[in-house]
Amino acid sequence: MTKLLILGGDGFCGWPTSLYLSARGFDVVIADNLSRRRIDKDMDTDSLTPITTPDERLSAWQEVTGKTIEFVQLDIARDVEGLQDVLSAHRPDAIVHFAEQRAAPYSMRGLAEKLYTVDNNISGTHNLLALVAELGLNPHIVHLGTMGVYGYDGDGLEIPEGYLNVKVEAPDRETLIDRDILYPTNPGSVYHMTKSMDQLLFQFYAKNNGLRITDLHQGIVWGTQTDETRLDERLINRFDYDGDYGTVLNRFLMQAALGHPLTVHGTGGQTRAFIHIQDTVRCIAMALENPPLPDGKVQILNQMTETHRVRDLAKLVARVTNAELAYVDNPRKEAAENDLKVSNKTFLDLGLNPTTLEQGLLNETVEIAKTFSNRARTETIASKSVWTDEQKPGVVLKRDGQKRFKLRSRSDKAA
Ligand SMILES: NC(=O)c1ccc[n+]([C@@H]2O[C@H](COP(=O)([O-])OP(=O)(O)OC[C@H]3O[C@@H](n4cnc5c(N)ncnc54)[C@H](O)[C@@H]3O)[C@@H](O)[C@H]2O)c1
Repeated sequence: MTKLLILGGDGFCGWPTSLYLSARGFDVVIADNLSRRRIDKDMDTDSLTPITTPDERLSAWQEVTGKTIEFVQLDIARDVEGLQDVLSAHRPDAIVHFAEQRAAPYSMRGLAEKLYTVDNNISGTHNLLALVAELGLNPHIVHLGTMGVYGYDGDGLEIPEGYLNVKVEAPDRETLIDRDILYPTNPGSVYHMTKSMDQLLFQFYAKNNGLRITDLHQGIVWGTQTDETRLDERLINRFDYDGDYGTVLNRFLMQAALGHPLTVHGTGGQTRAFIHIQDTVRCIAMALENPPLPDGKVQILNQMTETHRVRDLAKLVARVTNAELAYVDNPRKEAAENDLKVSNKTFLDLGLNPTTLEQGLLNETVEIAKTFSNRARTETIASKSVWTDEQKPGVVLKRDGQKRFKLRSRSDKAA
């Protein structure tokens, strides 16, 4: 049985991936320091869906399927000995690495969050790579990177899968020198910067130690449930809707459920790449089945299925839910409008049949947002982390500068 270590397996992508792979016969061990749950407490917010503790989740999984997943509480950035013990004890055939601080707005909240995001993400990734090399292990390491490393100032040139072939003139040679270089990154937040830096760590350890690494440059994940998390209410996946962790589509769906206008930042002309959570778990399984050769080159795949302009997305959600739109300040320092084209050829060639936004699954997420709207902490929904002092929070204002919409409170809803 393939032994699989999933770092960050308690999170939004890691939990459904752990179940999907356990259901398909992998022997799964999750390591997670539960920092995501702690950050929720610090920010006085919570998953919209009522997620159970790791112990309850895993007992429910065993009860429903008869399959066992082991859980280790471990900080991979700070506890090097603990990580070494887990790697030595389990000697995994493959490792999926989700364990990073993953929110761009959170990483731009203030000095403490910037320092934490860099320390956590870079140390965690480097500890893993250095230990795998030191212990002489040979797992296939699959890392979750992001399409955001390339920035969103693009002019619509298609972003290839990781590498750009360049031909360089050398003064003393007659022929051009041919190189595959990492496609240039252009990070737009401290979080995206850490993902760009991860790429260099991977490049070095693949070249120096022959580690087999796949870096998945993922689009924004939407949706909540997968076939496995639907099996029992104790297995439900987390749903983040707050201004720091809630990704754009889930935030719109939540706002619609609360009767709040959908807050479109700036002109809404930003184009982003998207993927449904069910396709995330499928792609990770496909990546695990197709490891790269130990030839010194990192395999980089674009894990996304479609691109949308934010205002078009808002209009789509407004059509499905009868919500209003509100154009608000953009808290991010970024181009007002951008085009984005991305090659996702490898996953399509491997047989991925994308779940698109137009399909019924959008309704499922609308239903989840409605069902649990009484748990919403409405004051956390607006995006308030600003990139520099020049940007303003993305809140709906009246002409006199006061908040215009009074949201239904939790007690109103319960009544
Ligand atoms: N959600 C998205 O839209 C999206 C898009 C692109 C890429 N990604 C990437 O996918 C990965 C998972 O994202 P997610 O949405 O599931 O995030 P998440 O925050 O829900 O999950 C991350 C998990 O990692 C854990 N973790 C963080 N630091 C850790 C550490 N030092 N040691 C041990 N565990 C640690 C957290 O407790 C959490 O359970 C991230 O690396 C993220 O950058 C996510």
